[in-house]
Amino acid sequence: MRMRAAVLEQFGQPLVVQEVELAEPGPGEVLVRLVACGVCHTDLYTASGADPSGYVPCVLGHEGAGVVERVGEDVTLVRPGDHVVTLFSPQCGECVHCRSPRTNLCLAIREQQNRGYLPDGTTRLSRAGEPLRHFMGTSTFAEYTVMPQIALAKISPEAPLEGAALFACGLSTGLGAALRTAKVEPGSTCVVFGAGMVGLGAVAGCRLAGAERIVCVDLSQERLRLASGQGATDTFVGGEDAVQRILDMTGGFGADYTFEATGNVHVMRQAVEAARMGWGLATMCGVAGKGETLDVIPRWLIQGRRIAGSSFGGLKGREDVPALIDRWIAGELDVDPFVSHRISLEDVNRGFELMEAQDGIRSVIAF
Ligand SMILES: NC(=O)c1ccc[n+]([C@@H]2O[C@H](COP(=O)([O-])OP(=O)(O)OC[C@H]3O[C@@H](n4cnc5c(N)ncnc54)[C@H](O)[C@@H]3O)[C@@H](O)[C@H]2O)c1
Ligand SMILES: [Zn+2]
Ligand SMILES: [Zn+2]
Repeated sequence: MRMRAAVLEQFGQPLVVQEVELAEPGPGEVLVRLVACGVCHTDLYTASGADPSGYVPCVLGHEGAGVVERVGEDVTLVRPGDHVVTLFSPQCGECVHCRSPRTNLCLAIREQQNRGYLPDGTTRLSRAGEPLRHFMGTSTFAEYTVMPQIALAKISPEAPLEGAALFACGLSTGLGAALRTAKVEPGSTCVVFGAGMVGLGAVAGCRLAGAERIVCVDLSQERLRLASGQGATDTFVGGEDAVQRILDMTGGFGADYTFEATGNVHVMRQAVEAARMGWGLATMCGVAGKGETLDVIPRWLIQGRRIAGSSFGGLKGREDVPALIDRWIAGELDVDPFVSHRISLEDVNRGFELMEAQDGIRSVIAF
């Protein structure tokens, strides 16, 4: 079929919205009609050329939600009409990682996905007979996408798809970091560095986990206000003194759980140093720049602090995303404040501009 899609033609250049071809879903694959898609930093990171593993041309986008239109042979997990959230982090349910409760890093289609292909090593996207590569296995800056069934979370049809799209990446990453990776215990003290989509999700996750005290640190007062709305009990503007301020707030000990959601390696270090001696756990969500390293004094670790990394919040997407969306429908989460701008696919580059200007939390493309 022919459809409109936003193509990354050249690094550092605006995306070009144009007509491309999408082939029918193959065995185990699903054709999804996108209804909404968030614009995320990872899209911009790749578009800018900063991502060393990026490639062109390809169709960007990975925060999608939509409706199953058609299914290929042997598809058993979804049916036409099902509402779905796209998963850049799939869950095959069978590989050694999927069978372990300790990780969500499914191994099934990783290699081909990283190179821009569907699991069989080919693309469904093309233009004038030339293949066009997929991005993160999702390519949701488009009216339709073809994806493997293991990379779709079937969600409640009651959930508005505009808000559901945020669960495809940033929001779930923060929620999962608190609920899955750190497994925050009721009554604990948490600190979240960064109040973008990921950090605000982590604040909400700490609240859902029953944390008693949730401190949020950001550079923007406006974002700190949003953090208060998500359950932060204390907020302050970050800087060189952030660790000392947290120590002062916690009787000199530090927090039971800290979360880093800025992508800045200096803040990552603050998150480690603000974690409590004895058992404090610092969870890193941010993606640092190429070649950057995290500097940690080993004594901090000997004193019982631990560091965890978290990809997609440690969530096993097909199981955990629908469950989080049910909690949203049940009124436990407030997603509306995160949708700052509604834009059309034609305006996708404006979504990047708004993000660079830190104007709002998320721009969502409505199809
Ligand atoms: N691990 C994953 O699976 C995953 C998924 C999505 C995004 N990410 C990464 O998570 C990070 C956050 O994503 P986002 O969409 O929320 O980004 P964002 O840019 O919207 O938010 C980052 C926030 O950090 C704040 N900040 C910057 N410097 C600070 C400082 N010194 N002290 C305190 N706050 C500071 C900014 O003011 C901003 O509000 C990014 O690095 C992103 O690439 C990781
Ligand atoms: Zn797997
Ligand atoms: Zn993302």
